[in-house]
Formats: sequence, C-alpha cells, structure tokens
Amino acid sequence: MNPELICFEAACRARFPVTDVIYNCPKCGGLLEVTYSGTKEDTAGLKQTWRQRRCNNTTIDQSGVWRYREMIPFLDDNKHIVTLREGDTPLLNAPRAARYAAIDQIVFKHQGFNPTGSFKDNGMTCGASQAMRLGMKRVACVSTGNTSASMAAYASAAGLQPVIFIPHGNISSGKLAQALEYGAMTLQVDANFDQILKLVRVLSEKLGIYLLNSINPFRIEGQKTIVIEMMDQRDWNAPDWIVLPGGNLGNVSAFGKALRELKGLGFITKMPRLAVIQAHGSSPFYEFMHAETRQTFTAVEHPETLATAIKIGDPVSWPKALFEITESNGVVERVSEQEIADAKAVIGASGIGCEPASAATLAGIRKLTAAGVIRPDADVVAVLTGNVLKDPDYIYRYHTGDLKAPDGSAIEPNFGNRPIVVPNDPDKIAALLSN
Ligand code: F0G
Repeated sequence: MNPELICFEAACRARFPVTDVIYNCPKCGGLLEVTYSGTKEDTAGLKQTWRQRRCNNTTIDQSGVWRYREMIPFLDDNKHIVTLREGDTPLLNAPRAARYAAIDQIVFKHQGFNPTGSFKDNGMTCGASQAMRLGMKRVACVSTGNTSASMAAYASAAGLQPVIFIPHGNISSGKLAQALEYGAMTLQVDANFDQILKLVRVLSEKLGIYLLNSINPFRIEGQKTIVIEMMDQRDWNAPDWIVLPGGNLGNVSAFGKALRELKGLGFITKMPRLAVIQAHGSSPFYEFMHAETRQTFTAVEHPETLATAIKIGDPVSWPKALFEITESNGVVERVSEQEIADAKAVIGASGIGCEPASAATLAGIRKLTAAGVIRPDADVVAVLTGNVLKDPDYIYRYHTGDLKAPDGSAIEPNFGNRPIVVPNDPDKIAALLSN
C-alpha cells in the first residue's frame, strides 16, 4: 500500500516516509496526512471480510478500529498494535431527542462506549501503535481531558510513559482522575489549551517525546474508523448528515478524509454533509466560516464554555476542517451554554446520556432544523463524543438549578430533575409517590 506522509497544503504536497517523526511539513509548515497508493481495493470482498471479523476472537478483529485495517494500512507489522478493544460503538435511535429537535428521526453514534469513554480511543490506538513502531519510550499531549485519559491508558497498556499537560483547574475531575488512575505523569499548567499546545510541541521536540495530539496524522487515521464503522452498521447507506462537535477540529478532519476515501473506493455512493457545532464562547471556526472574506483565521484568545472538552480558541486543524466542510457541502453552527445544557438533559432523558460537548450536536441540529438547513425528514447521525460520567458535577448542578455559565449567568434547569430528600417513613413516601 506504500503509506507516506503528505503535506496537506495544495501548493506543496511534499511527501515524507511514515517513519519520519514530524507533525508539520518540514518544507512549508503545513499539516500532514497519511496517504496510500497502489492496490485497488475489492470493496465487496472487504465488506464481507469486515463482517466476518466481528465473529473472530482475535484482539485485532475484535477492535472496531483494526477490523478495518485495510483502510488504515500504515503499520509495517501488526505486532506493534496496542489495542483495548476500542470502537464497536452502537448506533442508538433517539425518538425523544428527535422530537426535541423537531426532526423525524435522530440516530446517535455513541463514542462514549469506548474503553476510556470517548472517541479519542479510536485515534489513540493508532497513535500509540505508531509510537511502538517508532521505538518511542515516552508520549505526551495537552488535553481538555479526554485525549489525556485515552493517551494515559494506551501508553500504560503498551509500557510507554505517558506525560500529560492540562490546563490547571479547567478539566472535569472525572477526566483528571482517569489520567491519574492510568498512571500518567500529570502536569497541570496555568495556561489554556492553545498556549499549552505550543509549550508541549517545544518540549516534545527538545526531549524526543512522541506527541499524540490530533495534529499527529496517525490519530486521524484511527478516527476515520468511526465513520467507516458507522457505514458498515448502516449496510453502507450513507446518511444525509453527520453532525459532530468541533474543538481542535481533528475529528471533522478525520470524518471528511474517511468519507472521501470511502466514496473514492466505491464503498458508499453518496457524500453525507458534515455539520460541525461549536460552543458560542469558543467558536473561532464558526466565525471564520461566516466571515465575509475567509482571508485570515482569527483565534479566540480567551475561549469560554462549560463544555470544557471543546474550550479551544486556536484549533490547529482548521485548514483540514475548512477543506472537509467545503468538500462535503457542510455547515458550521454554534450554540449557547443554555442550549447545550438543555440538549444534554434531553439526551439523558432518552436513556442515552453524554458529556456536555457531545450535546452540542443535538442543540445544533435543533437550530439547523429551525433555520431550514436540515430538513425534518433528513437522515441524520449525530456523534456523541464522550460518556455521561465524564462530567458528573455539571449534571448535578444543572438538575439542582446551580449551573452557571462562564459569564456568571444562571443556566435554567428547563429539563431539571431534582433529587428529593425524604424522611425514613413509608407513609410519607407512599403519599409522595401517589401524587
Ligand atoms: N467532544 C469531546 C468529548 C472532546 O473531548 C473533544 C476534544 C471534542 C468533542 C472535539 O474534537 O478537537 O477533534 O474537534 N477534546 C480534545 C481533548 C481537545 O484534549 O480531549 P476535536
């Protein structure tokens, strides 16, 4: 398959061996992606092979990432694979959420079912495997919480040392707890995500530590399988829309690449439209896409949102995201703190649940349907990126009317479900339950 790294910039397209430890093009500074050339795939045969692998007990066939290894053939030897049985995440029909968004049907692809509870595991299995192949000893990332939890787990599983950098006091305690439990050296820095990313890049270069943020193109290869698995689960019928939250914009880059490759190889015949949803206070990509001229990308210096996973003001992958949104005739929307909080409670009341950033999807669909962008009869898949238990503090505050937006304004518990304190008295409890 001859895998190579290729510069994403159309004017450059320089190529480098996949074994080069680089994160940007050494010639022009552009983003890098993995490219393959050579054999033409037998799509019908592969569809069958992938189905059959679900019944195999080998670890790589059980993985919802490596099952599709013909679509991510960058390793020279499968012995490098580090897997925790990631992927295999369900498609869940959510009629209640659909009613909330005034649309006929919504299906959630729930990445919170992953081993560390977020979609990052799909990418991290690839990033950690590449680190093993390169003979690395230490890996590093900056994170709003999920990347670090995932990297800590995969690195420790592989015997690599995880070093994580997080914005001090600005990630959920559940995610921080995961990093500690999975054995990561955890550095809390008094700076925001964007500032720390610059710091980590300097340090990883200086100390020879392998960087596993989504600028790492091998992570993007793994995240492609979220879409590949989604299409497999839908018997290769592409939906009209795929909706996802946007932070550093790695995931939309991965989804777009997967869709282009699937369509190019004939696995799907239709290109779904991508809709990226950002939080209002952290929406540089929304602002860029809705600017009169798209000449310069302006970062948001002080991003704010309670959806801390997507609290990012200077997303590194914006050039890829711009390309994929354009290619898929996609859209970018943004939603308020109140809209995220209510949508999250509706997803919870559907028996599904997710973390705040993930709920931006439903809030965004509601807004886009009201604006006539998404038709009520559209076939929509929304990707829930993280598990409900990632941020329990947010949940408790919302339901008890104690949640405040970053600007101090109160979030109304429009779908609140307060716990009720009762005496240890069967008559009083019976009276309450008969109301
Ligand atoms: N949803 C969740 C739950 C996330 O953790 C993230 C990103 C996103 C959405 C946005 O994805 O960055 O690819 O656009 N979290 C990163 C982290 C930044 O450090 O865990 P993106």
